[in-house]
Amino acid sequence: MVDRESEVAPEHSFFGEARLLREGDIDQLKPILESWIKDRETQEPLPKEVSGIMDEMQKSLRGENDRTYLVAEAGSGEIVGTIGLKKPEARTRGFAKTQNPAELINAYVAVDQRRGKGVGRALVQGLEAEARRQEYTEIVLNSGPRYKDTGWGFYDRLPNYERVGVAQDLYGKGIDAPVWSKTL
Ligand SMILES: CC(C)(COP(=O)(O)OP(=O)(O)OC[C@H]1O[C@@H](n2cnc3c(N)ncnc32)[C@H](O)[C@@H]1OP(=O)(O)O)[C@@H](O)C(=O)NCCC(=O)NCCS
Repeated sequence: MVDRESEVAPEHSFFGEARLLREGDIDQLKPILESWIKDRETQEPLPKEVSGIMDEMQKSLRGENDRTYLVAEAGSGEIVGTIGLKKPEARTRGFAKTQNPAELINAYVAVDQRRGKGVGRALVQGLEAEARRQEYTEIVLNSGPRYKDTGWGFYDRLPNYERVGVAQDLYGKGIDAPVWSKTL
């Protein structure tokens, strides 16, 4: 008998995979990073911040930092998003409820692939699996006001993630960031 439920995929299913970053992915991620990493007020590009993340990606592949990055690879082979994991900064760690939290960082999905196709959700699922593999006990994350419209609603909808506080002045005086957490 044909199982209709499994035959008909929900509209937001991502037909691809979240997998660990490889060297050849980093150049493909550059335009995705550039499209989101902009000055909050002027929308000016912030190339130093973009190249800083790309450097950290390179270092993570050489084992020179405590980061792990994943990418979302579409069925076509195109890289359509990224997400990262690291030991939390002190300011974010203070919100954790368990002994060995990891911090979710740098979640970015290509402009034409975001919102409702499930790419971000697939990246978070992949990240959680990797965090468990590395014996982390919790995911914490913060998101500054730059991403209030584009990111906060996503985190609020993620199952079992809760807002656990606000990190005051995290991105400069008066620039606060809500913090979310999920125990693994
Ligand atoms: C945040 C981001 C990574 C999420 O990835 P995504 O591929 O858009 O997320 P998904 O398609 O898996 O969305 C999962 C659900 O959240 C919803 N959602 C996504 N972004 C949302 C937002 N900003 N506000 C409200 N809901 C949102 C989706 O509609 C979807 O809902 P559904 O399950 O009812 O269909 C992506 O939108 C993005 O790159 N945003 C711009 C950069 C950014 O803000 N990054 C966060 C930095 S902290």
